[in-house]
Amino acid sequence: MAKKVLVLTGSPRQLGNSALLADAFIQGVKAAGHTAQVFETGFHPILPCKACDKCWSQGKPCVFPDEFEKLAPMLEEADVLVFCTPLYWFSMTAQLKAAVDKLYAYMKPNAPQKLKIKECVLLAAAEGNEPDGDYDGLKATYKAIADYLKWTDRGMLLAGGVWDAGEIIKTGKLKEALELGRTL
Ligand SMILES: Cc1cc2nc3c(=O)[nH]c(=O)nc-3n(C[C@H](O)[C@H](O)[C@H](O)COP(=O)(O)O)c2cc1C
Repeated sequence: MAKKVLVLTGSPRQLGNSALLADAFIQGVKAAGHTAQVFETGFHPILPCKACDKCWSQGKPCVFPDEFEKLAPMLEEADVLVFCTPLYWFSMTAQLKAAVDKLYAYMKPNAPQKLKIKECVLLAAAEGNEPDGDYDGLKATYKAIADYLKWTDRGMLLAGGVWDAGEIIKTGKLKEALELGRTL
């Protein structure tokens, strides 16, 4: 059955390494017969959660007007969520994390709208290239989110050794991303 895949990117860089990973992954997703949408948190600012606990009190997940209003309907129709981020300080970027924090609204017992996401993927680019060191923080966060939400992890693709935007083209990681996309 065709799945709706939502790719949440975290980089503030145009044509950056993680953005290219997302493009390649989406090519694979489409080749497998699924549909894909992208939401770039780096270009559609989302305010951090303020813990006001007023979620849904104005008929929308968050009462504060920001670009989460555009993201919300995309989240609500997605079957698969892809976290695609550069490694910043051993974790995801603040831009992406702000979007993740607002998933809180959907977890509230009285939320009028729930998410139907059942699967997730992690795509990441970084300068560091120590699979068991540099990525530990990001992987732990991603796995904890997946476990908590009972989402099945469909793969983690970690592309190390890339600093400059576009450098990832010289590695084999875009091909790997395309192949991972196909496996959905
Ligand atoms: C604020 C900042 C923090 C970073 N932190 C890390 C880090 O902890 N580990 C690492 O290996 N690379 C780190 N990097 C390097 C980026 O992960 C790397 O340049 C990556 O390829 C950027 O991806 P992008 O082109 O998709 O933005 C950092 C870069 C910036 C700007």
